[in-house]
Amino acid sequence: MVILRTDWSGHLPRFSRRTRRVATIFTALIALSVPPVDAAEPHWPAVASLLRDRCVSCHAGVFAPMALSLVSHGELLAGSYNGAVVVPGDVPGSPLVRRIRGEALPRMPLDGPPFLSADEIALIEGWIAAGAPLDGTVDPVPVAPEDDGVVTFADVEPILKQRCIVCHSDNSRMAAPPEGLRLTDLAAVLSGGERLVVVPGNPEASELYRRVAGIAQPRMPFDGPPWLPDDQIALIRQWIAEGAVDDAGNAAPVPAGREVRLRGRVSGATEIDGAGFVVTEQTRVEDRLSVGMEAEVRATIAADGSLIATRLRAR
Ligand code: HEC
Ligand code: HEC
Repeated sequence: MVILRTDWSGHLPRFSRRTRRVATIFTALIALSVPPVDAAEPHWPAVASLLRDRCVSCHAGVFAPMALSLVSHGELLAGSYNGAVVVPGDVPGSPLVRRIRGEALPRMPLDGPPFLSADEIALIEGWIAAGAPLDGTVDPVPVAPEDDGVVTFADVEPILKQRCIVCHSDNSRMAAPPEGLRLTDLAAVLSGGERLVVVPGNPEASELYRRVAGIAQPRMPFDGPPWLPDDQIALIRQWIAEGAVDDAGNAAPVPAGREVRLRGRVSGATEIDGAGFVVTEQTRVEDRLSVGMEAEVRATIAADGSLIATRLRAR
């Protein structure tokens, strides 16, 4: 685990104060008008634990999607940069309900299926109907995890979940994950889509790094700017450079025999954007490349991880 930002108090959306006030008024009105539903049985601890299990891997911290943090009651009621997602007492009027029911897309949790079960949806709806109370509990004080300096997939995964899988998953905003590339888990990231996107140990040859750094176009995330902040780009680079290790610390195997396609600028006699390649008698040289030229290199990964060019051409 590597800590990018020490501020775990989270990013408070611009509307938070007003939304909170509105939420308080709503709660007060509901308290006056209807008797609390199921007052004997508190819902919030169960709702909070469900959110922690299924939502907080993405909806937390400075980069929470749409600035919606679901870490605490206060943040949930503060809503997203669009405003409230829970309207106490108004189940159908709560945008969060439409998301978990799949009435607003993409359906949440974004990394589903599985989505929430009927019982889990009923739990959240019951809590909202009861006025979305804190049920006598107190919001937790955020505690920053320890930074051990080791970059594993666990450090990279939240970035992919927050910024990429809205397109690169089966729950894609697009008709299908672009280029067949799913970024939902380590196996999917390492196997790539139509092409390999991670060459362990070689970030310059890894489309995953090249696209977020803006070395290859179109830059990712496709709906940016904003692009990834520099510290996240550096983290992805380091993860690949150190061998794309899994959460147990094992480096990924060399994807020998797989193909990469690098489109960019020639940076040396046999180098494109800093990624060295080997030219053999089998390489199809369609154009003579010179430094500074825009070019495309197709290559196969050798057993030692080097790039054996299969085709070179100008673009
Ligand atoms: C894998 C990451 C991920 C997980 C897990 C996830 N979300 Fe989201 N959520 C997102 C992203 C990304 C968006 C923005 C989607 C978009 O751009 O339309 C989003 C948007 C939302 C919105 C829309 C906010 C608004 O203002 O319209 C709500 C509500 C929401 N999520 C609730 C949840 C809930 C509740 C859960 C758990 C049951 C959950 N999310 C789990 C990534 C996630
Ligand atoms: C809004 C949708 C969207 C989001 C969000 C998005 N992508 Fe993409 N991605 C695309 C599309 C569309 C393409 C194909 C673009 C092209 O090459 O013409 C693509 C292509 C790629 C490729 C190239 C695949 C290949 O085989 O050449 C990589 C790598 C990639 N995306 C990584 C990412 C990463 C990493 C993120 C998050 C930081 C991300 N994308 C976020 C839509 C998206």
